[in-house]
Amino acid sequence: MNQEKIMELVLDHYENPRNYGTKEDSNVVYEGGNPGCGDIITIYMDIDSNGVVSGISFSGEGCMVSQAGTSMVLERMKGKTLSELEAMPADIVRETLGKKLVSTRPDCARLGFNTMKNAIKKWRRLKTLSSIEDSKET
Ligand code: FES
Repeated sequence: MNQEKIMELVLDHYENPRNYGTKEDSNVVYEGGNPGCGDIITIYMDIDSNGVVSGISFSGEGCMVSQAGTSMVLERMKGKTLSELEAMPADIVRETLGKKLVSTRPDCARLGFNTMKNAIKKWRRLKTLSSIEDSKET
């Protein structure tokens, strides 16, 4: 896809973000941000018993690249397993948003992707803690 087409898509996702919305009762909620500018993204993720991400959405405030980039990248994450998402390389951001945008605005472009990765780490930590708690009770 050429850069012009990508910019059209970025604008469309900024004006009409996909998978946008808060869901506080999700299995994991994680807020990430760029300290340099204060922009934030919160990821809401539901994970079923087979480890499949059954629901994913985001909310946030910030520049066009961070918000549209999160919307576009999340489209590629729906229905994947946690293991697939953990293995997903950062290159997916460049594939989705184009080399030019990612090289000029790397922190903005990767905010959603990095927040998703941190959300999974948080969920793994919570699972580990709850299994330790469970083993103490038995
Ligand atoms: Fe803050 Fe883009 S300027 S994420």
